[in-house]
Amino acid sequence: MAQPLTIEDLRLLAKRRVPRMFYDYADSGAWTEGTYRANETDFAKIKLRQRVAVDMTNRSLATEMIGQPVAMPVALAPTGLTGMQHADGEILAARAAAKAGVPFTLSTMSICSIEDVAKHTSAPFWFQLYVMKDRDFIARLIQRAKAAGCSALVLTLDLQILGQRHKDIRNGLSAPPKPTIANLINLAFKPRWCLKMLDTPRRQFGNIVGHVTGVADMSSLSNWTASQFDPQLNWDDIKWIKDQWGGKLILKGILDPEDAEMAAKSGADALIVSNHGGRQLDGALSSIEALPGIVEQVGNRIEVLFDGGIRSGQDVLKAVALGAKGTFIGRAFLYGLGAMGEEGVTAALDIIRKEMDVTMALCGLRDIKQVDERVLVGGRAGAIKRLAG
Ligand code: GLV
Repeated sequence: MAQPLTIEDLRLLAKRRVPRMFYDYADSGAWTEGTYRANETDFAKIKLRQRVAVDMTNRSLATEMIGQPVAMPVALAPTGLTGMQHADGEILAARAAAKAGVPFTLSTMSICSIEDVAKHTSAPFWFQLYVMKDRDFIARLIQRAKAAGCSALVLTLDLQILGQRHKDIRNGLSAPPKPTIANLINLAFKPRWCLKMLDTPRRQFGNIVGHVTGVADMSSLSNWTASQFDPQLNWDDIKWIKDQWGGKLILKGILDPEDAEMAAKSGADALIVSNHGGRQLDGALSSIEALPGIVEQVGNRIEVLFDGGIRSGQDVLKAVALGAKGTFIGRAFLYGLGAMGEEGVTAALDIIRKEMDVTMALCGLRDIKQVDERVLVGGRAGAIKRLAG
């Protein structure tokens, strides 16, 4: 393929190169996938104000997320099975993020382990935690993240049970894939992926296998989640986790102002407005539609971060204009990873950075820290109206 110019170019290439069950795992939502689609399409409803004849030299996208400097308000989101999109995926993505000056977040459900990623990358990364029933295991996981020098803990609150994803069930998603006839035929068309995967020992859940008794592979995501994850997770547990961790804490999966209020009172450093990429409660608001109400509820009491549907630098700018201090990209970097490994993640970050930079200039601003509702047609109220329409 010629040089990829958009995240969509990377998606198409990833679709060709990544085995179907893993491509589908990334590129799918729960049930009707309505919220999954709305995350992306709602961004297009918001319109930007073009400004002219203003000095646009010396532009800067640099800012901070949870008090840490970032080259742009974008972090790589925690995504499960990243090392199945491409061999050694978490290490490659962490390296690309470090090079771009943005945070990488390692999922509990990663293929490369915390220690392995720390050993093979230079910059500190963030660790995402799922709360499992075995609290000793959680306490150990937190200690492992601390020992690896992780600089924030991202606690996911919206996946204690799994939203049903039809494609995963139909594909018989498992890691590593089972050698069924259908899988073998599909793998025969993905030689690049297979060769790299045969060349790495990293093919299982690195944080979990060998650390929890009875877990050797993930043969069914829903059964696995049902047996391991704690459906009784509550705000007292969050306090316990905060105390165990003692560092920067980010609460992920907030979509409702009442929960945002609880998050602000919890003493966490930040929350992420998120519907888990439309993978959990189908029928929920898109993330961008939920954002203004949450910002209004919590004000400056807790930092508001954002994920869901970002496929361009313009999307990042719109989220920032509506009050997000920073954003996370999940699929946008996974497509790059599946398409071209580390180089593809770098390409995804470059695409987003360039789009954001040029858009900011054409909106008449030079510094991302100046971006607010003034770049939106009709301001915040105008965006809310268009989103509802
Ligand atoms: C895990 O984070 C998933 O959404 O599958």
